[in-house]
Amino acid sequence: MDQRSADNPTGSQTDATFRIAAIGDLHLKTAVSPDMAEELVALDQKVDFLVIAGDITEGGRLPEVELACELLAGIKTPIIAVLGNHDRRGVRRRAMRLLLERAGVRLLDGSSMVHVCPNGKKVGLAGVGGYGGGFWPEEVPDLVAARLSKAVGVRARREALRLQSALDELALLESDAVVVVMHYSPTVTTLGEEPPLKYWMLGNSLLGRVIDDHRVDLVIHGHAHLGNQYGQTPGGTPVRNVAVSVTGGPVIYEVRADRSIGPEPWPPRPVSINPSTELLIRMGQVQ
Ligand SMILES: [Fe+2]
Ligand SMILES: [Fe+2]
Repeated sequence: MDQRSADNPTGSQTDATFRIAAIGDLHLKTAVSPDMAEELVALDQKVDFLVIAGDITEGGRLPEVELACELLAGIKTPIIAVLGNHDRRGVRRRAMRLLLERAGVRLLDGSSMVHVCPNGKKVGLAGVGGYGGGFWPEEVPDLVAARLSKAVGVRARREALRLQSALDELALLESDAVVVVMHYSPTVTTLGEEPPLKYWMLGNSLLGRVIDDHRVDLVIHGHAHLGNQYGQTPGGTPVRNVAVSVTGGPVIYEVRADRSIGPEPWPPRPVSINPSTELLIRMGQVQ
């Protein structure tokens, strides 16, 4: 089945709490495909807000950022985004942030916000870039030190702490649902055809643990271009990889009044992961 048709909204919105459009890894460089621009603009009447899971640009250069702003300024739907590793490659990061914010993009970076939808529902959002580091089972903490270089470990922990404080902040506020937006993955279950040797560059277990320690309804990430869309944290929190190479374009999720995530049936179908990853999980090598 075409992944995108599975994500198109179906039925009426009467039983839906709210709808989110999501996309990641646009990697804008010199031009935007007319199809992509059209699809993003067409979201306006369909969703409560759009989240962008990072790698908006190829290299964070100002002409690329200006191109992104031109695209995003034409979208009436509120836009909430995190930056990806490619966006952080540019040297003029402050200018990049200002330009994106001026184009109407709300950037989250270890921070949180509550978005009030037109139907009055309040959605708490926590956003962080995240980092690599890899996925390891909790019962063998020594492996963490062995596997991670010190610099990667420090940054992975720092980003996990920033996510934790953003979620702690949200826990004090009133919201009907909580959505986490990040660039890196908190789970191997959305890494699809990515080679296990690359996992350490794609995300880490700490992020998944922080999520599972909080009340989170949905996690949206990108970065794993060869991954798959549907997954979950070890604790069962729904995770969606929205890298455009995976989804083919913006996708729409419905967060329903009973806290289930549409359009999939609830409870979620078993997560399918690649056989080599499944073997590593069974051997206790990854989580
Ligand atoms: Fe990317
Ligand atoms: Fe990335």
